[in-house]
Amino acid sequence: MKESFPELDFQRKKGNFYYFDSAATTLKPASVIKAVSDYYSQDNANTRRGFYPLALNADKICEGIREKVRKFIGAKYITECIFTHGATEGLNILAQSIAKSFLKADDEVIISQLEHHSSLLPWRETGAKIKILPCSLETGEIRPEDFKKLISSKSKVLVLTPDSNVIGRTKNFEKLVKIAKEHELIIVADCAQAVAHQRLDLDKSGIDFAAFSGHKMYAEMGIGVLYGRQELLEKMQPQLYGGEMVEDVLNINNIQLAELPYRFEAGTINLGGIVSLGAAIDFMKGIDLEPLSKTLKVILANNPYLKLIGEPEGPIVSFQLEDIHPHDVAQILASDGICVRAGYHCAQPLLEEIGPVTRVSLGVHNTEEDIEYLAKKLATIRQRMGYA
Ligand code: ALA
Repeated sequence: MKESFPELDFQRKKGNFYYFDSAATTLKPASVIKAVSDYYSQDNANTRRGFYPLALNADKICEGIREKVRKFIGAKYITECIFTHGATEGLNILAQSIAKSFLKADDEVIISQLEHHSSLLPWRETGAKIKILPCSLETGEIRPEDFKKLISSKSKVLVLTPDSNVIGRTKNFEKLVKIAKEHELIIVADCAQAVAHQRLDLDKSGIDFAAFSGHKMYAEMGIGVLYGRQELLEKMQPQLYGGEMVEDVLNINNIQLAELPYRFEAGTINLGGIVSLGAAIDFMKGIDLEPLSKTLKVILANNPYLKLIGEPEGPIVSFQLEDIHPHDVAQILASDGICVRAGYHCAQPLLEEIGPVTRVSLGVHNTEEDIEYLAKKLATIRQRMGYA
């Protein structure tokens, strides 16, 4: 697998290079880089605007990959898959559009404490009343009883990620979705992390809306997908206005929106990014990070000074090393050629009480030897900082 990533090869010629920051962005496989290079060398054109062969071919490429995305995320209809520039844009569009289309004054949005700022802050801007659904700081668990207690007749939306960018997989996710369904809440899921290592099956899952980025799943930066159930999307107003999202502009007071999904894709879409997404989906077939994730936890648990945060499940693991600030941990590891992320991870509602953490996140290029090297270097840090 390592040979699939030219950046690994390039960096390792310069020295040690162990990349454990796939939750921030993944390295890019050669097949994805080639697909993008081929697209710009041979097929580049704007979509839905031209009648010449190159432009018609661009439409074909775009819609072919939209269908590939539909299958990959388990959407029912191709019209439910909207291309965006990333998860943050998708989540902002969703918050604004859901608030305008479905919420009345005093309606409540329940947001889990596990959310990344991208999934929390857009709701603040809508003016909706926000209730935070707490999780256990020890286990990371959100208890179904706590959720039930929080729901009132004014509750309309649940915002819940299937995979936190700090502690990995969300425990009780299916149970919480079921409760939300029973109370007829709209369910919005930030799938930015989950898309890289959980098999999404959105239509069956009960989730109504989801958003993710390509760059955390081996595709380019600047491309993302917003998923919404067709029957809900049909009732929603777009947030971005411009070219190709309208059928007709008869006059400023009389416009006719384009059909789904195009009414949510104002302006020129990032076809190069879409091509990279298609190649990344092909690349990801058959990938299973579970065995390596388990190994990671077992090996890290051997360090008596290291505390894992929130009983993590999956390939995202955060920890604190006794007496040592995570920024120091990350900097010392960097000097050993190890890339990790440290700090509050744009998830302050979760980490404000726990404090900053160091995060290790796995990608398909990682191996058991990588993890052993990481553990060996982690074991030296306290001594290097002057502790016994
Ligand atoms: N959201 C990304 C992360 O968690 C950038 O690192």
